[in-house]
Amino acid sequence: MKDKLLALKEDALTKVDNATEPKDLQNVRVEYLGKKGPITEVLRGMGQLPAEERPVIGQLANDIRSDIEAALQEKESELAAKQLEAQLAEEKIDVTLPGRPVTTGATHPLSAVIDDIENIFMGLGFKIAEGPEVEQDYYNFEALNLPKNHPARDMQDSFYITDEILLRTHTSPVQVRTMEAMKGEVPVKIICPGKVFRRDDDDATHSHQFMQIEGLYVDRGVSMSDLKGILLTFAKEMFGEDQQIRLRPSFFPFTEPSAEVDISCILCHGEGCRVCKHTGWIEILGSGMVHPRVLEMAGYDPKEYSGFAFGMGVERIAMLKYGVDDIRHFYTNDQRFIKQFQRL
Ligand code: PHE
Repeated sequence: MKDKLLALKEDALTKVDNATEPKDLQNVRVEYLGKKGPITEVLRGMGQLPAEERPVIGQLANDIRSDIEAALQEKESELAAKQLEAQLAEEKIDVTLPGRPVTTGATHPLSAVIDDIENIFMGLGFKIAEGPEVEQDYYNFEALNLPKNHPARDMQDSFYITDEILLRTHTSPVQVRTMEAMKGEVPVKIICPGKVFRRDDDDATHSHQFMQIEGLYVDRGVSMSDLKGILLTFAKEMFGEDQQIRLRPSFFPFTEPSAEVDISCILCHGEGCRVCKHTGWIEILGSGMVHPRVLEMAGYDPKEYSGFAFGMGVERIAMLKYGVDDIRHFYTNDQRFIKQFQRL
């Protein structure tokens, strides 16, 4: 009996020793210490033993039981520790890996230039006015003294949706809309930024869609010298204190007289170079005194009020300011290009 018990202990301890998973230990526990296990069986058969042997065998069986239990528990914690170690090794974070870069968005160069232009004119007392990109023929042309079939419409050939509705070719219609809404009140002192559309070839300096900022100032006694003063201030703030401007006679149906405005070449400062085609001047915008008919149609008596207007292409200003040689860079959104203009 005693030998049998000792052999059982030996077997059980070897199995505990060889166990590699918690499941193996559970099997040993059931096999040796369970209700149907050999030790329980021995204890059950004690009745047949001589009386003096019973306490000895009983004691031995109990000792073996607790020895096996102790071995099981020890092995259990050993396996648990090993498993934890393996898990930690596997899930270890490699803190030496470089982090994934967090990229922040940035203002698009055109938006940045619009912000700059807006800030300059707001500083001069102008308010910002916006209007629809899909516009009525009346506001885009007729109210600007460009009746149907007027040859000057050719300069701004456009995308028509119906005979009466088109994608606006300039932001001048916003000026008309604003005057109408103000019902004869003065001063009207606004700038109108926004997208415009023309049927144009797409090349390095032309695009079928671009951005404009136009300005309008209507009040009593507004003169051409106000126009010149405002635009000179703008040129200096945008391109530098030493900027000069010059006005050249021109034609627009909605202004009379009209003038193209040049700034002194930002590259050669007037000496003459390739960029200014050796003239020392670069054209940046169109302007003029608001045509009496335009004032009249919008409800302002041209005998009492006068005004000036101007319009510039945002891309052109941005190209000059940053030395960009192709307008298409602004639209293709190549990160290598865009990133050069990031402002914080
Ligand atoms: N609307 C004109 C254009 O888009 C620009 C302009 C505005 C000219 C105001 C004169 C006065 O070509």
